Amino acid sequence: MAKIVRKAELLGALSRALDLTEGQPEGHCVRCCWIGINVGRKLMLPDEVLHDLYYTLLLKDLGCSSNAARICALYLADDLSFKRDFKLLDGKLPEVLRFVFAKVGAGSDLAARFRATVNILKNGGPIVTELIETRCQRGAEIARQLRFSQNVCNGILDLDEHWDGSGRPAAKKASDISLLSRIALLAQVADVFATASGKEAALAEVAARKGRWFDPAIAEAFLAFADDENFWRVLSSDELEHTVLKMEPGMSAAHADEAYLDDVAYAFAQVIDAKSPYTAGHSERVALFADLIAEELGWNAERRRHIRRAALLHDIGKLGVSNSVLDKPGKLDEQEWRLMKRHAELSEAILSRIDAFADLAAIGGAHHERLDGKGYPRGLAGDGIDQETRVVSTADVFDALTADRPYRKAIPVSQALAIIRADAGTALDPVCVLALESAIAKSSIIDKAEASPRLKSA
Ligand SMILES: [Fe+2]
Ligand SMILES: [Fe+2]
Repeated sequence: MAKIVRKAELLGALSRALDLTEGQPEGHCVRCCWIGINVGRKLMLPDEVLHDLYYTLLLKDLGCSSNAARICALYLADDLSFKRDFKLLDGKLPEVLRFVFAKVGAGSDLAARFRATVNILKNGGPIVTELIETRCQRGAEIARQLRFSQNVCNGILDLDEHWDGSGRPAAKKASDISLLSRIALLAQVADVFATASGKEAALAEVAARKGRWFDPAIAEAFLAFADDENFWRVLSSDELEHTVLKMEPGMSAAHADEAYLDDVAYAFAQVIDAKSPYTAGHSERVALFADLIAEELGWNAERRRHIRRAALLHDIGKLGVSNSVLDKPGKLDEQEWRLMKRHAELSEAILSRIDAFADLAAIGGAHHERLDGKGYPRGLAGDGIDQETRVVSTADVFDALTADRPYRKAIPVSQALAIIRADAGTALDPVCVLALESAIAKSSIIDKAEASPRLKSA
């Protein structure tokens, strides 16, 4: 019998993956939810608006991975710390410029730093607009796929618009900006400052930006919490997540059925794949190859559904790895390799917070283990690696070989199959390798017309 899963619990837990991508201290979206819903209640918004506000706050950063690679390439900087520190700025030009010059090119050569700086000077405005536009549009699209209302999508779309028209991408003003975005922006800034420097800093920042970034009525509603000790205590307490889960507005808690769990896995696969141009479509293709292997192995529909979800989410921990590592064209140094390897543990940590996906956590954590014990992170060997993980690992390696990588072009399918055949028994499970070969031979995904067969775009 399928487990009953609360939608709020599922998305609240996954919002932690979004915090990682934004370089925010863990729990940022959940804290924003606490702040924003309290502001909404103070404004006496009706339940249906609070419901949409609740999910806007939890999912406001859904599009955040889509500009990470671009930030990294443009500013020659680590996207995670860049995003984190950028949120502490108040948008005034001298401060922004100082920040950009301090951040641009940390660790890169002088000529590259010079070119990046000139590019930002010439195109700074349009570049930032484009980065924000991509992020907001992508976020709204994914929210739509998750079946949220137009209000939630608009709430994510307008997140970076400011009350006085100084925001982006559309420079909307005042009540032209979605009410949900106006509250979410304030909640975001309040949390970033409260977490970095404490309650007084958050209150001062909101007061200073009232009428500029923030709707004055919303800023007033937030400032009314200045003396509410319970509000601040819960914000920094361990019980916050539990409290936020309980406060989901609406008649009754929404539940996620099996089809919705599939949608969530597909939606987050897109968040993961958007992080790097080199992993575009990776999670979806790994799901396809894993499903083909599972079909060959004669698995039933339920087991295949499970393996598809595991494959879609196996790399969710990559959201916590900087694009300066993920997209590096050369060989990774020891420290970078350590950061890269961390993604498997992060996948496990994120997925294990979600009851419905708890079984997937072990697969996410072990998909880089090898039968001979030379994999990571634990160095598991042989029977220590379960069948599900072996299927995902085989699909993962096959896709990695047949896709472009920062350091090499895609390898033709026949050559990729030869490589994984050579790895059967040492790294990969021979049964899974045979199943993949057989599935590929039966399907039409190899373009026979090409001299060196390549996968048709899957
Ligand atoms: Fe991986
Ligand atoms: Fe992968």
